[in-house]
Amino acid sequence: MPRFDPRTYKKRIILSWNEFAPKYHSEWASKEIGPFKSTSKLITISGIKKGDFVLDLACGTGVVTKKISSKIGFSGKVVGVDISPGPIKIAKKWNTKKNVKFFVIDAEKIKFDKEFDAVTCQYGLMFFPNVQLVLRKVRKFLKSDGKITVVVHGSKKTAPYFSCISNAVLKFIPEFLPLGTPTVHRFGTKNLLKKEFEKAGFKKIKVYEFNFKYNPGTFQDYWRDYFTNLTTPLKRKFKSLNSSQFIAMKKMTEKNTKKFTKNGKVIFPWRVLILTAVNPKKLSD
Ligand SMILES: C[S@@+](CC[C@H](N)C(=O)[O-])C[C@H]1O[C@@H](n2cnc3c(N)ncnc32)[C@H](O)[C@@H]1O
Repeated sequence: MPRFDPRTYKKRIILSWNEFAPKYHSEWASKEIGPFKSTSKLITISGIKKGDFVLDLACGTGVVTKKISSKIGFSGKVVGVDISPGPIKIAKKWNTKKNVKFFVIDAEKIKFDKEFDAVTCQYGLMFFPNVQLVLRKVRKFLKSDGKITVVVHGSKKTAPYFSCISNAVLKFIPEFLPLGTPTVHRFGTKNLLKKEFEKAGFKKIKVYEFNFKYNPGTFQDYWRDYFTNLTTPLKRKFKSLNSSQFIAMKKMTEKNTKKFTKNGKVIFPWRVLILTAVNPKKLSD
């Protein structure tokens, strides 16, 4: 079984997001459907206001960045950063206001000599191999009393869109991902999420819970979508299965989705957690 290696993982993340970004943007993020109803909630909860200087971490195709740029007006500034050039290219295309700037950079390597009023990060935190490193860096350029607002997916149980398939995939291909690879559910409970921020020294931590729904269509639609959306490096891994194993894996997935299926349609519950925390004191280098 291969072991998790952050450098190889990041290379795969970049390849995957470069490939997946156009579909992610046009079919989900920009439509604000299912879990992406969080984008508006984040803006409200963050309290970002006119004139603020904001950093949007792991900004992807810029859906959060765009809302921030409207909120802060011309006297404010927002900087969006992401490790993958593909999403940033899309973000630049539709974020044309003068108060927005984008950079391709790994969140674990960010460095700014300016001070931000606020930091946001929607559905990015779980991808960082060393979250503590990122949070400590954030504390160096988020002003004292500045606020960070983070959005993450719930647990396997409360946001089962991913796990209905991935539980079956891992049964048939245990080495699908190297042992220790970060999962999207990594901070999927209030307690886990809160603890990570406490550990990094943030204060006044609050976690809000939202329960959205997402309907991918029928089971067939869900199944087809999964394979269409799989990026090339992951698609290759299915070549190790023979056809009867593949059929059995599909059957197992269908069984997993049964309890979310009504009148032929799969409707997934989708818990989303939004955390806010305050930097008690700007850290020095
Ligand atoms: C699910 S998308 C979220 C994008 C955007 N925040 C949104 O809400 O639509 C996750 C993004 O995290 C980025 N990402 C993953 N690891 C990263 C890292 N180490 N540093 C910066 N960005 C990273 C990916 O490239 C991808 O664009």
